Amino acid sequence: MKHLGILLSGRGSNFEAIAHNIATGRIPDARIAVVISNKPDAGGIATAQRLGLNTLIIPFKGTERADHDRAMVAALKQHQVDFVCLAGYMRLLSPWFVQQFPRRILNIHPSLLPAFPGLEAQEQAFAYGVKVSGCTVHFVDEELDHGAIIVQKTVPVLDSDDEHTLAARILEQEHVAYSEAIAMVLQSDYEVVGRRFGKKSPAVA
Ligand code: GAR
Repeated sequence: MKHLGILLSGRGSNFEAIAHNIATGRIPDARIAVVISNKPDAGGIATAQRLGLNTLIIPFKGTERADHDRAMVAALKQHQVDFVCLAGYMRLLSPWFVQQFPRRILNIHPSLLPAFPGLEAQEQAFAYGVKVSGCTVHFVDEELDHGAIIVQKTVPVLDSDDEHTLAARILEQEHVAYSEAIAMVLQSDYEVVGRRFGKKSPAVA
């Protein structure tokens, strides 16, 4: 049984989809050990409490970066977290934080990376005029929205779209993509070679 730690800052719909997919067995052999937010009023925290999960608030404000990171990592380790899932967590993790969970931190981003990293990716894609966008689940490394890609889903941009309707259709795909990616990563027959994530090649006898 693998323990997941969820970090979020807001609404928490990706977290809720992950919790649902654990409950229905689409993500097998996993449980959510703790949900951590920097914001006490994050919607995701209310959902986690309703689901009876452990929750923690660790605010950014008023703490040094290094102290904040130490508190986060201590809480994750205390809850014996194997994999950390960023689900709308609006802070770049420090290199030290990333090194505490090598290839064990996942993030979801609402664009087809490497296009449109950073904030408001859906608005960036819409304004650029792309005809296809989507979402990416990737490992977190020390650069923003950069680590090896686990799953991507495409979403066509329609003539009738505005940035809100596009973001809503991308979000539907995020809810599917994140659980698929977690289920893959929890199996031991996947590996990362260079930047490429995929099935391990069968052992040569
Ligand atoms: C999601 O669209 C997620 O992809 C995005 O924040 C939203 C959180 O929604 N994350 C980023 O932009 C990270 N760079 P949620 O709280 O409903 O899951």
